[in-house]
Amino acid sequence: MFPLRRNRRLRTNESIRSLVRETVLTPNDFLVPLFVVEGKGVKEEIPSMPNYFRYSLDLLEKEVKELWAMGLKSVLVFVKVPDNLKDNKGTEALNPNGLMQRAVKVIKNAVPEMIVMTDVALDPYSSFGHDGIIGNGQILNDETSAVLAEMALSHAQAGADFVAPSDMMDGRISAIRELLEDEGFYNTGIMSYSAKYASAHYGPFRDALDSAPVDLIDIPKDKKTYQMDYHNRFEAIRETEMDINEGADIVMVKPGISYLDILREIKDAVDVPVAVYQVSGEYAMIKAAAEKGWLDHDAIMLEQTTAFKRAGADIIASYFAKDIVKLLK
Ligand code: PBG
Repeated sequence: MFPLRRNRRLRTNESIRSLVRETVLTPNDFLVPLFVVEGKGVKEEIPSMPNYFRYSLDLLEKEVKELWAMGLKSVLVFVKVPDNLKDNKGTEALNPNGLMQRAVKVIKNAVPEMIVMTDVALDPYSSFGHDGIIGNGQILNDETSAVLAEMALSHAQAGADFVAPSDMMDGRISAIRELLEDEGFYNTGIMSYSAKYASAHYGPFRDALDSAPVDLIDIPKDKKTYQMDYHNRFEAIRETEMDINEGADIVMVKPGISYLDILREIKDAVDVPVAVYQVSGEYAMIKAAAEKGWLDHDAIMLEQTTAFKRAGADIIASYFAKDIVKLLK
């Protein structure tokens, strides 16, 4: 008697393993988040995101050239807005000479072929740290979508290739698409955060942008009235299909590692590219465990990130993009 099939034959050594490997990461898989601040010569580490930095525009230019040289061809831009420019309506978000608009120009000028995606959401601009305008004890949906559309237009005018609404208001994709078309920006794409869950994994990001929701009497301090409930699965498909119908070119699942089931289902359900966001808290967990010597940093990083691609991700937004590309060489 002998086993009819010996699966271990294909695992004998690295040569055969690599020959039969189903999923392989490449630099083309990655979208690199960038945090931008005002100032000159600023490269400041985010305390809850070790080895990740906020850059002022002059150093951003250098960083972007380095990414391009490494084979990383797309970035997702976020800005940290000074407190004195924040208000309820995110007025500063529409400033044609605001930090985001200038950042887009700096990147496009430094590396014209770099795909520049911009975060479209009010929270970095909101004095309350919410993704929507507050009124009548609510996060106002349609009023917010109208501002998001103006914001997206302003990013398109600055030269963004894609706008990436991360807010989860209903109908914002059609509001954005319509305004972009009306203004002739038919080539500007939309990457929608379509299945974005109200997650405890966003803490370090809110540190990075100083954008955490503040205490208010009539509004909960979380984002559960607009981001999705993590107990739900069908809702993710519904949200994603709606965003595609409204004009999204790329859809997204966020966060990543706790939502691999959702990622696979969405990949199987839709026919547009699917992105996943390995968020700040996922990054921080790996960093913290590695710092303690409890886990092997690079091994965990590669295992988790490969899992996104295996689960169906076409695009992986990751703070590890540079580290991974260095290891792939
Ligand atoms: C907010 C936004 C968040 C992230 C991207 N855009 C945080 C939030 O929803 O509060 C999170 C990214 C991360 O944690 O890495 N519009």
